[in-house]
Amino acid sequence: MRERFDSEVLAALRSKPKYIPSKWLYAGDGAALFAEVTAQPEYYIAAAETCLLAEHSQDLTEGVGTLVDLGCCDRSPALVGNMTCYVAVDTNPRAIETARGAVSGLTTYGVQADLLDNFEVPGPGARLFALLGQTYGNFDEQSRCVLLRNVRSVMGDGDRLLIGVDLSEDGARIEAAYNDAAGASERFGLEILTTLGADPRSFDYVAKWDGRSRALRISLRAKHDEQVGGVVVAEGEAILIAESYRLSVAQLSAELKRAGLVLRRVESHTSGYALINAATL
Ligand SMILES: C[S@@+](CC[C@H](N)C(=O)[O-])C[C@H]1O[C@@H](n2cnc3c(N)ncnc32)[C@H](O)[C@@H]1O
Repeated sequence: MRERFDSEVLAALRSKPKYIPSKWLYAGDGAALFAEVTAQPEYYIAAAETCLLAEHSQDLTEGVGTLVDLGCCDRSPALVGNMTCYVAVDTNPRAIETARGAVSGLTTYGVQADLLDNFEVPGPGARLFALLGQTYGNFDEQSRCVLLRNVRSVMGDGDRLLIGVDLSEDGARIEAAYNDAAGASERFGLEILTTLGADPRSFDYVAKWDGRSRALRISLRAKHDEQVGGVVVAEGEAILIAESYRLSVAQLSAELKRAGLVLRRVESHTSGYALINAATL
């Protein structure tokens, strides 16, 4: 994966405008720094998901033997309950090991894979595929389509899919969630510069809500000319590092349908965060 990190990040930094695929933000110490973001009071997403999982995990996991955790989530252990198998799927080997270590008393597997590529998953019994933590919304429409088709292709009849997504449109609250007072989001966003050997002090972290496209965008803006991974970023130039889309239920339903899945139920939190239950058509 290191080779892939280098080639994908370099290609993205050489493109116009510059960007870094958000999956690489979790590399190095990124995953540990993101865990600090999820503990901030402004980051309502994690708290809402914890609440929904506590309330609905029994229904969601009934008859399920294996949890397939797509993009390892710290809250997945709440779903494991009486299952016999847990499969952690992520690009980041450290996230996989942490996730496997967080569950006990059942067989665990780790699959290092990109969800946008074809991948295989082991695990007996009916399986619940879970994509939690607003990870689905962090892909653009085209990538979401590829992702869902890939997941559908490894699901058997009777397997289910659970997606944690933010349906909220409260721009001020969304913006606050990615600009927490303790600076955890900023440290997480800037970490990719350290991973690439650049100086994070040379960049401003900018996280802004765009109501028209219903996306929260995070950029790193250079305070002066600076090299990142051997590429010059000019003073004032921005590197886009994340886009987090807020989708509607109708949009989700249509995207699931295009991938051969059907939306079964929506469990909503007062914040607007929701768990979407889907099944094979
Ligand atoms: C928003 S975080 C969610 C997990 C986080 N630990 C939590 O508890 O909320 C996204 C996770 O998905 C992984 N991820 C993102 N894009 C991915 C991709 N294309 N393929 C595989 N994993 C991916 C990241 O490495 C990260 O672990």
